[in-house]
Amino acid sequence: MPLEGQNDLFAEPVDRIDWLRAEIERHNHAYYVLDHPTISDAQYDQLMRELQSLEAAHPDRITMDSPTQRVGAAPLSSFGSVTHTVPMLSLGNAFEDGEVEAFDKRVADMLRAAGKLQLDRSVEYFCELKLDGLALSLRYEKGLLVQAATRGDGQTGEDVTANIRTIKSIPLRLKDDMYAIPDVVEVRGEVFMNLSDFRKLNEAQEKKGEKVFVNPRNAAAGSLRQLDSRITAQRPLRFFAYGWGEVGEAPFSTHSEMLDWLAGLGMPVNDSQHVIAQGPSELLAYYRMVGERRPALPYDIDGVVYKVNQLEAQRVLGFVARAPRFAIAHKFPAQEATTTLLDIEVQVGRTGAITPVARLAPVFVGGVTVTNATLHNEDEINRKDVRIGDVVVVRRAGDVIPEVVGPVLEKRGADVKRFVMVTACPVCGSAIEKLEDEAIARCTGGLFCGAQRKQSLIHAVGRKALDVEGLGEKLVEQLVDRGRIHSLADLYGLNSLELAGYDRMGMKSAEKLVEAIQKSKHPLLGRLIFALGIRHVGETTARDLAIHFGSIEALMSADLDRLLDVPDVGPVVAGSIVRFFAEPHNIEVVRALQAQGVSPRTEDAPQSSGLSGKTFVLTGTLPVWSRDEASEKIIAAGGKVSGSVSRKTHYVVAGEDAGSKLVKAQELGVAVLDEAGLRKLLDS
Ligand code: IVH
Repeated sequence: MPLEGQNDLFAEPVDRIDWLRAEIERHNHAYYVLDHPTISDAQYDQLMRELQSLEAAHPDRITMDSPTQRVGAAPLSSFGSVTHTVPMLSLGNAFEDGEVEAFDKRVADMLRAAGKLQLDRSVEYFCELKLDGLALSLRYEKGLLVQAATRGDGQTGEDVTANIRTIKSIPLRLKDDMYAIPDVVEVRGEVFMNLSDFRKLNEAQEKKGEKVFVNPRNAAAGSLRQLDSRITAQRPLRFFAYGWGEVGEAPFSTHSEMLDWLAGLGMPVNDSQHVIAQGPSELLAYYRMVGERRPALPYDIDGVVYKVNQLEAQRVLGFVARAPRFAIAHKFPAQEATTTLLDIEVQVGRTGAITPVARLAPVFVGGVTVTNATLHNEDEINRKDVRIGDVVVVRRAGDVIPEVVGPVLEKRGADVKRFVMVTACPVCGSAIEKLEDEAIARCTGGLFCGAQRKQSLIHAVGRKALDVEGLGEKLVEQLVDRGRIHSLADLYGLNSLELAGYDRMGMKSAEKLVEAIQKSKHPLLGRLIFALGIRHVGETTARDLAIHFGSIEALMSADLDRLLDVPDVGPVVAGSIVRFFAEPHNIEVVRALQAQGVSPRTEDAPQSSGLSGKTFVLTGTLPVWSRDEASEKIIAAGGKVSGSVSRKTHYVVAGEDAGSKLVKAQELGVAVLDEAGLRKLLDS
């Protein structure tokens, strides 16, 4: 007997077409809007192929809202223009707290004067993210997507319908299972690109020898304004709805109800980071909270938006010029700026890595003045084609090191100079070597090189290693430059009298520092191992090694096989440890430390709990914890965190924008938790 689905297929191909369309759009919605895939890519492709072949056999049945029509159409010669029935406005901006307070006061005063707000009440606002993309208006008639237009000048925009059809999170037909759909529904929102998709796109562009984009916004703009929608179809564009234009009869009375309504119609709505706030202090608290999470978000935002929540109050407040009085954008400092690249110098790191550093004309970006930025390595400079004298785009996001994104080619002068890599270490004169499979050039001087010595010491006394409070980089540099310390053990011979002679050191701080140095003689074994600066041995591996071997002697005498017994230690790490202790100089360092009375404390194995021995994979953005925070908590409870999903994974913790790892987990039947589920597990 044939299977049920196949029976349908042969008996009623036409009904099968409807069924396949609904099914594919349901999976599109689950994947692109709810971020919760319900089938694997392969199963999805199979449904799509079946629909395509049925449509090929029944061409009269092809309709514009079929998911097969999302692949793009023949190129246009130009975009048509669209007059917005309801103008697309922009927002007033605030940068300072005072401007937000003034905005709230204006709103409250007007509403009180109109009898819409009691004297003792504060205004209720809906707070949401200001996505850094492009505004878009979608027009649905009788539930069907008929037009998509850019903002243009607010009155007239460009008709980008063919391109927008290719964005799978945008429904071609509104869902009518929750609400009756008004004849006309205009949805407004932002088209954008996720950071990870943007990076992948640029990698692919580069491989094809095509233009790379400077940031996700430009990539989104370039993709939206493609005359050939088949190209747009290849671009990972996304959309979030945040408002409405013309709507027949609006069954909502607040902004938040409106968003729920849109979500009910199948529109993607960014429901992860918004809050309802009363009065200015809560607005500012929201701004700061989002500011802290900004670096961990999967997309760029340039601020937050506060909107009066009651639509009746919005109507009373009305508009000024081209912006509403009921809403304001509170902007973050820009994360990108342009400036002149004055020079490229090289720096020598702890492991000898030679990093080219850009010297820049001072520029205010990401809230601070930046004069230096990393250029990573020589290949990167060539790839980006950055030249000395160029006007360059500089980016500083969150606490990350500022980097040079690329040159502004239109502004390139005739006298720009290419960077030439040094052939000898600028600090110690040793030869520079670059292994074939590595992008990084290294100084071969080892601890003979003053720069490497300084960086090794800075690493060793750092917070995650021996944690010597009060011993900063500048002081280490002076101590090395004056020849007072050559290796870590020399630190323990310093006395307060001589330290008091160094820059910005008084007798008191010198005494405190000596105390801190003495205190660091009994670190946890893992920290001591980490402090040694063995290549490929990070904090976690150092701790695993400490737990496994129990003493520095045991670690020093371990051979490759014994090292490979340590969970999570592979051939690269093991090889690096063996090489490190094969170097007599490194043994000397350990012996000298011991002679100074440095003796580590043994590391406690993590207490066994429900999590011990369990492997977790984190994916997507969690609502409250950063991924690092969640990892720390899992590790502290005895669990392990891995980067990829396999049959050995016990749990996948998925947040917003979880992608292939989540799908893989579902394919393999691995348990999936959200942040709340993880908390429960940690509490139990
Ligand atoms: S509301 C009547 N909400 O910012 C108010 N705009 O400067 C219309 N934007 O052109 C805009 N995220 O492209 C609104 N959550 C959000 C937004 C947002 C980004 C953009 C939009 C608009 C510009 C206003």
